[in-house]
Amino acid sequence: MNVLVLNGSPHPNGPTSDMVNAFSKGAREVGHNVEIINLFDLDIAECNACEYCHQGVRNLCSINDDMQVIYPKILKSDMLVFASPIYYFSLTSPLQAALRRTYSFGIPNNIQKTALILSSGASNVYDGAIYQYKNGVVDYWGVDDAGIFTAHEFENKSAQKRNELYEFGRSL
Ligand SMILES: Cc1cc2nc3c(=O)[nH]c(=O)nc-3n(C[C@H](O)[C@H](O)[C@H](O)COP(=O)(O)O)c2cc1C
Repeated sequence: MNVLVLNGSPHPNGPTSDMVNAFSKGAREVGHNVEIINLFDLDIAECNACEYCHQGVRNLCSINDDMQVIYPKILKSDMLVFASPIYYFSLTSPLQAALRRTYSFGIPNNIQKTALILSSGASNVYDGAIYQYKNGVVDYWGVDDAGIFTAHEFENKSAQKRNELYEFGRSL
């Protein structure tokens, strides 16, 4: 499987990336091709609702930024993983922007399954992100939810959480 991870954390050594790396290690060990994109390193604008993409059958976005590199990667993936720290009970801006920029092509029929990885300071702060993921991705795209993983406080960067994500990767 081609697995693409959209990582919305700015910290390459933080708990979100720690879970992403453990998941990727497990998935690669069982033969999957995993690519991780750290969105904070890139220039991704918010959708400006110009509707260029919906004139005729273009399905192309008019904004010339790094999303143009991500589009073809999404459209050749079998699985898409969304990873983010919780900022104000939600996903971070670059991940929100990347998700909303898929408005240009609509539903990526190549994607069979998705997963969500979240890190936070407190517990019970995930409802907003999970609501968006379940409605805006899983239900809207008609894909299988392979799993939702969260870590807060002491769980962040713990061996137990790392192993949970590693085993998830191996289970694919
Ligand atoms: C701007 C900002 C907003 C945050 N909002 C929340 C929040 O609403 N709830 C929470 O539990 N943690 C919140 N946090 C804490 C982060 O979610 C937490 O530190 C997380 O583990 C960071 O993960 P990372 O280092 O992998 O990016 C916030 C942090 C920042 C910088």
